[in-house]
Amino acid sequence: MSEAPVGVMDSGVGGLSVLGEIRRLLPNESLLYVGDCGHIPYGEKSPEYIRQRCAVIADFLLDQGAKALVVACNTATVAAVADLRRDFPQWPIVGMEPAVKPAAAATRSGIVGVLATTGTLQSAKFAALLDRFAADVRVITQPCPGLVEMIEAGDLHSPALRQLLQHYVEPLLAAGCDTLILGCTHYPFLKPLLQEMIAPHISLIDTGAAVARQLQRLLADRALLAEGPPSETQFWSSADPTHLGKILPMLWQSSGVVRSFGL
Ligand code: DGL
Repeated sequence: MSEAPVGVMDSGVGGLSVLGEIRRLLPNESLLYVGDCGHIPYGEKSPEYIRQRCAVIADFLLDQGAKALVVACNTATVAAVADLRRDFPQWPIVGMEPAVKPAAAATRSGIVGVLATTGTLQSAKFAALLDRFAADVRVITQPCPGLVEMIEAGDLHSPALRQLLQHYVEPLLAAGCDTLILGCTHYPFLKPLLQEMIAPHISLIDTGAAVARQLQRLLADRALLAEGPPSETQFWSSADPTHLGKILPMLWQSSGVVRSFGL
């Protein structure tokens, strides 16, 4: 069982930013990645729609023998992780949420910006996160429609992308944020561009590495950590798999075979 793979899912390519952290921390794990690229953006879909997609993908990954599931998507986590945990009670499931707690601890200006999807920012789970960890800081939220679609197209630095990103980041900087939370797993791919837009004292925080550590803890607790030699990663996309195959080297630092996930 410990040699079984870990399933990782996202609405599209964003979860590859988390997959990279998992690969770094747990090189012996076999990884299965499903990008629901045919159904992006989750951030503008209803929670019910996202729950249905997550249930289909979770079933698929379980059929593939996954010993654990990582929901490498903030939007899918707020909409579906409770249902997934209810429906698959024996399965270790790692979800993720915007890094409000570390950001509240890190800010010196006392003002934190959150870049995330509309779905994440409107959720009750996010409101609860603010109540719990952000009582002493000011949090300014910024939904970012359009960014995910551009990243999915393989655009990480066109003038149009730069303009859209600037439009979202500018008000946060003007309000005095010194800490920006990247609350969507697609956004870490924009870090190089973001760094050109912000002063050096402003920090960017995302939760990919924390998710990898949480997965490590859950697997260790159940004696499920793989011990074998460094292992392979397999990819599926619910859109044209050749498109993901083409942009994979840019987002994953190596090429890979992408199969069609047509359920
Ligand atoms: N990557 C997802 C997240 O972390 C959402 C992208 C989408 O809107 O599809 O929130």
